[in-house]
Amino acid sequence: AADVEADLTRVLVTEEEIRAKLDEIATQVAVDYAGKDLLLVGVLKGAVMVMADFARALPIHSTMDWMAVSSYGAGTKSSGVVQIRKDLDVDLHGKHVLIVEDIIDSGLTLSWLLSNFASRGAESIEIFALFRKPEAARVVIDCKYVGFDIPNEFVVGYGLDYAEKYRNLRDVAILAPHVYS
Ligand code: PRP
Ligand code: MN
Ligand code: MG
Repeated sequence: AADVEADLTRVLVTEEEIRAKLDEIATQVAVDYAGKDLLLVGVLKGAVMVMADFARALPIHSTMDWMAVSSYGAGTKSSGVVQIRKDLDVDLHGKHVLIVEDIIDSGLTLSWLLSNFASRGAESIEIFALFRKPEAARVVIDCKYVGFDIPNEFVVGYGLDYAEKYRNLRDVAILAPHVYS
């Protein structure tokens, strides 16, 4: 573990804090979607951890699907060009869709995803993002459920990667600049 820790400046949000926040948001979502046909759409790959834990924290019925998109590649800045790597399997007609994202950074990924979903016939579309960086916003995203607003630092862990690494860290931490500069 020592070699991983050397790549991190400090832990920003702990596993325990994430767990508590997921329980809180799951309680709210359960109230808001009671009696509705709720489809959770996870945005691969970053949302894998938050989806797995959030779906299990949710005390109401839900189904799950995945969309794989990527805009960062191996860099620390959004390219702004979103590529679909895997589309949804299910039809959105009649569904109440809750997009589950690990982070809203520039907002470009979700802005693109929302317009992609707009014509697919969903009953409603809302967003749950575990993290959001208000200072990095290039487009404003109307996000109904936000876990934590965080500073404009490059963070990794709990699904968040740098060049595909660090997704498996339990906490979310600031990546040390020497790793990417
Ligand atoms: C990351 C993150 C979000 C998006 C946020 O995904 O998981 O999906 O960037 O950035 P934005 O608001 O500036 O668009 P990435 O493209 O790195 O793919 P990944 O989920 O596979 O890591
Ligand atoms: Mn992502
Ligand atoms: Mg990424």
